[in-house]
Amino acid sequence: MAGHEILLGVCGGVAAYKSADLVSQLVKQAHCVSVVMTRSAGEFIGPATFEALTNRPVYRDLFSPREHFLGEHIGLARRADLFLIAPATANVIGKLANGIADDLLTTLALAATCPVLVAPAMNVEMWEKPAVQRNIQQLEADGIQIIPPGEGWLSCGVTGKGRMAEPAELLKVIEQLVG
Ligand SMILES: Cc1cc2nc3c(=O)[nH]c(=O)nc-3n(C[C@H](O)[C@H](O)[C@H](O)COP(=O)(O)O)c2cc1C
Repeated sequence: MAGHEILLGVCGGVAAYKSADLVSQLVKQAHCVSVVMTRSAGEFIGPATFEALTNRPVYRDLFSPREHFLGEHIGLARRADLFLIAPATANVIGKLANGIADDLLTTLALAATCPVLVAPAMNVEMWEKPAVQRNIQQLEADGIQIIPPGEGWLSCGVTGKGRMAEPAELLKVIEQLVG
């Protein structure tokens, strides 16, 4: 199994650093990876890391396309075999559950025809909020696969549920789907 087009959406959470490891592992498996970052994601990890790992531009802007001038959301969506959003913030999860498309990443989620997977990452208080749980249920009802967060040490200094699934687990799920 090799050589699929993986679209990776990276949102603004501390776990964004783990996505660099995931990209590295995907590229080692001969997959082609396109990384889309939200504006907030840029506060946590720089595009240069993903550009070097993928040998592609990082896509961040709806209106200043790097590659697809018919609309980056159209071109990237057409090319993708699978769209994984990892880490997915509470904010993006809320937007996806409500069909909001106010940046490239969320517009792509609506334009995508491939399987869409979401790997949430947030602190335990956010994860347990009724609004977040409601949005997760809505995404599942809409056919989006949730890769649930694990329990353990959180960057806010407490132990609880909210850790993004580890890159090895994400890789396994991706391989099961595109393999
Ligand atoms: C240090 C720090 C860490 C954060 N970590 C998370 C997180 O893990 N998960 C989350 O949902 N939001 C987290 N946030 C809040 C998001 O960055 C914020 O909601 C932002 O608007 C998300 O933008 P995006 O969803 O467009 O990427 C964090 C904020 C800060 C300042």
